Amino acid sequence: MTDDSPTPGDGGTSQGDATLSPPPRAAPHYAPQNFGDRIAFGFVKLLRFFADAFFARRYGHRAVVLETVAAVPGMVAGSLQHLRALRRMESDQGWIRTLLDEAENERMHLMTFIQVARPTQFERLLILVAQGIFYNLFFLLYLLSARTAHRFVGYLEEEAVYSYTEYLAGVDDGTYRNVAAPRIAIDYWKLLPDARLRDVIVAVRADEAHHRDVNHEFASALAPSR
Ligand SMILES: [Fe+2]
Ligand SMILES: [Fe+2]
Repeated sequence: MTDDSPTPGDGGTSQGDATLSPPPRAAPHYAPQNFGDRIAFGFVKLLRFFADAFFARRYGHRAVVLETVAAVPGMVAGSLQHLRALRRMESDQGWIRTLLDEAENERMHLMTFIQVARPTQFERLLILVAQGIFYNLFFLLYLLSARTAHRFVGYLEEEAVYSYTEYLAGVDDGTYRNVAAPRIAIDYWKLLPDARLRDVIVAVRADEAHHRDVNHEFASALAPSR
């Protein structure tokens, strides 16, 4: 099963327990505190608008394309924090490992969802262009203001939590078939052998909530000028 197109009326193998899904927007939100925070928040909302317009409710495809973007910041921030630690000859306080782990975790999200939805040729082109632009923009933003860059990722992750909550609700109400969890996901999250897509989305959403908290925390730990 590689198509995540909505299948109205097809309950598939959904466990159908909607009570297990928290309502969308239940996730904590960090209120913007300064100009940089507001810029980060506004830019994420703009990206959300385009994602909604392009993917609508094709959540499998949305996950694949957006995870290719989500896996970039951790690697950029990790390498820049690594260089900073070398220049200053001081401890990174564990930031580098945390950021590189985030990048790897996002790449595993991608490797998982690629088993659920195969990107179209156009989406592959979009991924290529988006990576070229986003990698360089995020790199520059991090040089200008690491604080705003981490805040931006925090807001991006708030949206990721929201999107996966919607995806989960769609699985629970039978809009999307609750297919068997890909092997790679069962191994990575140590899920039960008979785990389903629902279990995978719950695990991924927990990861995104963790990235959200870590990035907001990192942003708050940095002085506003940085
Ligand atoms: Fe992710
Ligand atoms: Fe994430």
